[in-house]
Amino acid sequence: MEATQDLTGLPGLLLPWYRKNRRELPWRADRQPYHVWLSEIMLQQTRVEAVKGYYTRFLAALPDIQSLAQCDDELLHKLWEGLGYYSRVRNLKKAAQVILERHGGVFPESHDEVLALPGIGEYTAGAICSIAFDQPTPAVDGNVLRVMSRLRDDPSPIDLPETKRRVSALLAGVYPREAGEFTQALMELGATVCGPNRAPDCEHCPCQRLCLGFRRGTAEALPVKSPKKQRRQEDRTVFILSCDGRFALEKRPEKGLLAGLWQFPNVAGKLDTQAALDAAAAMGLHPREILREVEKIHIFTHIQWNMKGIYLEVAETGGDFQWFTEEEINTQAALPTAFRQFWER
Ligand code: ADE
Repeated sequence: MEATQDLTGLPGLLLPWYRKNRRELPWRADRQPYHVWLSEIMLQQTRVEAVKGYYTRFLAALPDIQSLAQCDDELLHKLWEGLGYYSRVRNLKKAAQVILERHGGVFPESHDEVLALPGIGEYTAGAICSIAFDQPTPAVDGNVLRVMSRLRDDPSPIDLPETKRRVSALLAGVYPREAGEFTQALMELGATVCGPNRAPDCEHCPCQRLCLGFRRGTAEALPVKSPKKQRRQEDRTVFILSCDGRFALEKRPEKGLLAGLWQFPNVAGKLDTQAALDAAAAMGLHPREILREVEKIHIFTHIQWNMKGIYLEVAETGGDFQWFTEEEINTQAALPTAFRQFWER
């Protein structure tokens, strides 16, 4: 790394490139803070292509902060179904309520007030304040960290808070007047030319002549990440219980993983056929026939579920469940992907 590397030329290289090459994305049509905020929350840990449809549907259903603050939780969860990290959408609604109560329904412009909203951290506050209000507030996500570690030939692990702080401080010193475009240009370079999990396309990079990683041939080996911790492995048996065209669902607890969402009844461990029938009987059901058994995996941030799905027909609806029709499961119940993968046939 070179402590003296001069990055003041970065905006001058990036902005013209961005204006010419930017992808047209639904959230780039305007700079309304509500739109910027929603898109940035959706884009955390989620690919652009996956977010597009969710973003458009969400705004069609909840077009402004007031409708979000007052919306029904079932609708909210349904609009988020499949995106994962559901605490994001619960915080979105909480923050909308705070904006109504504390800011008269107008999205605040001060960085500290934005940062104080539920679910908004340094990254999101920086993104909103720069993109919506042209403030010189960096938004340092994985894309930007990758670009900066290559540009500076910096081997500091990008998962360390210290690395992020350093990059953020460096960028804050070179922000141009067109802050919103600069934030998005950095993200865009990191998502395309200087993208993840492959060699960078240095030939088409506007920053080539500033880039130490390019000059020294280290760009492809960057960024560096700390060794990953193993995820906790959990075995579960999931029951897809059917009776006369209805299927059993139950609500998950209000706290913890997938809080408050619907699930197929499930128990710890991978049960064999007899144990599964016994478990169903213990739920107060009368098993008729096991239709099939399927194995699936779902990966959360810190946990991996190794699941056995048992499709079981029962003699009557009962147990401590709600029995939904196929149509209701498709259109009303927010069934997270961990369980929905047993539903898609
Ligand atoms: N990733 C995070 N924020 C983004 C944005 N505003 N546009 C494209 N990709 C992004």
